[in-house]
Amino acid sequence: MSIDVQKMRAETPGCARVIHLNNAGCSLPPQSVLDAAIGYLEDEAVAGGYETAEARTEDLDAIYESAATLLGAEPGEIAVTDSATRAWDLAFDSLQLGEGDRILTTTSEYGANYIAYLQLAQRSGVVIDVVPDTATGEIDVTALAEMIDDRVGLISINHIPTNGGLVNPAAEVGRVANAAGIPYLLDACQSVGQLPIDVKEIGCDYLSATGRKFLRGPRGTGLLYIRREILEDLEPAVLDLWGATWVAPDRYEVRRDARRFELWEMNMAAKLGLRTAIDYSLAVGLGAIWERVQSLGAGLRQRLRTIDGVTVHDVGAVQGAIVTFNVDGHSPDEVRAALRRADINVSTVTPGSARLDMEGRGLSGLVRASVHYFNTEAELDACAEVVARLE
Ligand SMILES: Cc1ncc(COP(=O)(O)O)c(C=O)c1O
Repeated sequence: MSIDVQKMRAETPGCARVIHLNNAGCSLPPQSVLDAAIGYLEDEAVAGGYETAEARTEDLDAIYESAATLLGAEPGEIAVTDSATRAWDLAFDSLQLGEGDRILTTTSEYGANYIAYLQLAQRSGVVIDVVPDTATGEIDVTALAEMIDDRVGLISINHIPTNGGLVNPAAEVGRVANAAGIPYLLDACQSVGQLPIDVKEIGCDYLSATGRKFLRGPRGTGLLYIRREILEDLEPAVLDLWGATWVAPDRYEVRRDARRFELWEMNMAAKLGLRTAIDYSLAVGLGAIWERVQSLGAGLRQRLRTIDGVTVHDVGAVQGAIVTFNVDGHSPDEVRAALRRADINVSTVTPGSARLDMEGRGLSGLVRASVHYFNTEAELDACAEVVARLE
């Protein structure tokens, strides 16, 4: 199935205004996502927040089915959160790792996740061990298997890092984790919405995702998947009247599904917007999206490589939508500002976002141009032209 790009662009109001190559930051939502979220807010304003939630229960609850379809999960394995970091932290905190427990992670690990490892290392004495990369930059699964011992309490990696086109072999990592019976947490923040995901095939126990990036949902939304078999043994650090029921003066019961990780209060308009965004992605087709973003990403890299003074920095045997580069004599911020003056949105990456990888490759910063399926070849030309004209 190929994508009707002109139709997708016509359905995306932002396409008429900007060339948006910042989809790894926050994508442009389709009109249907705007309509769902704004319409819901308007309903709340005239009918009342609680009354609207009651009237729209079915619409809101449909997000669990939609997210389950997206991830190859069951609806009861999904919790809706307000960001990928929140989802990731909820999973990480539920693990109760302690003194001497080893966390195996990857060089391209995301800054916020690594800060959480460091925090736990300081507080509880967990040990962080970084698995080496293959020659092409992915986590080396053979090395990972050799590092397993009975002190490993968690394997935790990103699927696609924040700072490049790399795709880590999530399913191969899953096979190692599952064979050893070690919990496996996958940060899929940059991959969900970009490529097909099947949690059963990957074999992860936990997966975190965000709404605003490749899913094109509203800001302030995220998803957490937790495998059914482990769910009931996990007690969230924070429980309210939604995650648990106060059944007797001295007793509460935790709900059985993944929504035990949610709180009762939620931005319902954003939740409905995210549901609409997920359904939109599913209708476009994740296979087709992945094919197109890989092709556009490769096209942008190729254009940039022909420009004097430009170095493309993406690693990985398979490369996706995130394109990173530097321009001699210009800081990443200067490049971003020049593109911005031409109504082209890109972002920059600083070492703190992925310090082990950035320092390992001697990178003090990068320009990050991230494509999505609604971008066009002409937009890539326009981006390359501005970069080529930098003085
Ligand atoms: C790889 C990766 N993980 C996690 C996050 C955090 O996502 P959020 O800002 O939704 O918490 C990001 C954000 O850029 C990311 O790139």
